[in-house]
Amino acid sequence: MMSQTISILSDISKEEKYESLIPQIQSLVSDEKDMIANLANICAALKYNMDGFFWVGFYFNKGKELLVGPYQGPVACNRIKIPDGVCGAAVKEKKTIIVDDINKFPGHIACSPDSKSEIVVPIFQNGSVFVVLDIDSDKYSNFDEIDKKYLEKLSQIISEII
Ligand code: SME
Repeated sequence: MMSQTISILSDISKEEKYESLIPQIQSLVSDEKDMIANLANICAALKYNMDGFFWVGFYFNKGKELLVGPYQGPVACNRIKIPDGVCGAAVKEKKTIIVDDINKFPGHIACSPDSKSEIVVPIFQNGSVFVVLDIDSDKYSNFDEIDKKYLEKLSQIISEII
């Protein structure tokens, strides 16, 4: 059995963390063909190596609604109607959405009172959104263009394993 570990330094910039983490995630998923196993490990790799990542998970596009998939964090809502919430909006608009303060996003769906900011990144298959990566932070304005750049890079890697 392969031992799977991810290790990154703690005292480095966010950009350096992503630079170190993403190749390790790529290597982790290259050993396994099962989509759910890979998505589950990606959630853990992100939650336990990035700062302020309070909830990390996937919602699958089921047509009229999204259905929760693998995640790390407190219990979350099972289903989200499209285009409701930040996740539904990302599916409708087919683009990454960053919310600095979830209280200011009309229609935000609060799964936890501790969530303060959020990023949702769509993952495409044949031009359609197949699944979204949703990350909540317990800090306001935790996500910026650096997160967008690297999480979209990760979304590209994920689109090759789904
Ligand atoms: N906040 C999301 C719902 C999912 S939870 O954050 C886990 C939204 O507004 O779509």
